[in-house]
Amino acid sequence: MIKKGILLAGGLGTRLYPMTLAVSKQLLPVYDKPMVYYPLTTLMLAGVRDVLLISTPADIGSYERLLGDGAKWGMSIKYAAQPKPGGLAQAFLIGEGFLESQGCALVLGDNIFYGAEFQKLLTESAALDDGAAIFAYQVSDPSRYGIASFDERGKVLDLEEKPAKPKSNYAVVGLYFYDKTVTAKAKTLTPSPRGEMEITDLNKLYLQEGKLNVRLMGRGYAWLDTGTCESLIEASSFIEAIQKRQGLMVACPEEIAFRNGWIGRNGLIAQAKSLGGSDYARYLASLADGV
Ligand code: TTP
Repeated sequence: MIKKGILLAGGLGTRLYPMTLAVSKQLLPVYDKPMVYYPLTTLMLAGVRDVLLISTPADIGSYERLLGDGAKWGMSIKYAAQPKPGGLAQAFLIGEGFLESQGCALVLGDNIFYGAEFQKLLTESAALDDGAAIFAYQVSDPSRYGIASFDERGKVLDLEEKPAKPKSNYAVVGLYFYDKTVTAKAKTLTPSPRGEMEITDLNKLYLQEGKLNVRLMGRGYAWLDTGTCESLIEASSFIEAIQKRQGLMVACPEEIAFRNGWIGRNGLIAQAKSLGGSDYARYLASLADGV
């Protein structure tokens, strides 16, 4: 059972320059809320209440101002700095003290997921206590991603990083569940030619042990990346369309905390009051009224 989660919100965001020269990418808005709310609520839907957020030394303070210690949402959120973008697998070295040799979920701060039964997929995956679970999503341009080939039972056969001739159209998304051996495994990794500790190399260690499982995020899911100006505006439009149609919010941490029973009605009302006259605040107030 995975109870801890790491949210990676560092990086340089060079593809979004000049927007990210003074502001961390994961603090930019995706429609009506900061980008980091989306991956954070992915962890919350998986039942993870104990989170370590990793960002650059310059940006950590902004995340702390936004999220605090997590108590307002019935969570614990801690912070750690990554001095340079040394790769995704570095998260487990930076997070060693936080993890205390336990298993962990890892989510990338710029990955947005949406789909039916997402919470079920997540809670089933978080039940893991041996091996690792990753998720695959069909894409039209596989050479841009880490690619997984797998058999019909979900056993991964091969992983390739940005292959020129991909063996499958299934990209590995930015969400991973690992058992308690993850930190020890991460410690054995060496930097790749591009100087990063690669998540694909970590996954390959599980693959060699025959303990890497992949779950499919089918065509009913949206997996949105927000790394470029185009994908950022597309993600905002997508969230706007869904929210307006249903009158329900995507990735509202207060709502998920409330529905998970981590905060009560009074907590929800207090959050609504703290957010002034925004539509977001009105939405929280309507939830508290049971509308
Ligand atoms: P990337 O999109 O690979 O990198 P980036 O965010 O720096 O953007 P760009 O390519 O435009 O320069 O990163 C994916 C996610 O992982 C993103 O949320 C940032 C985060 N990240 C870290 O926190 N630390 C790292 O060392 C790396 C490589 C990424």
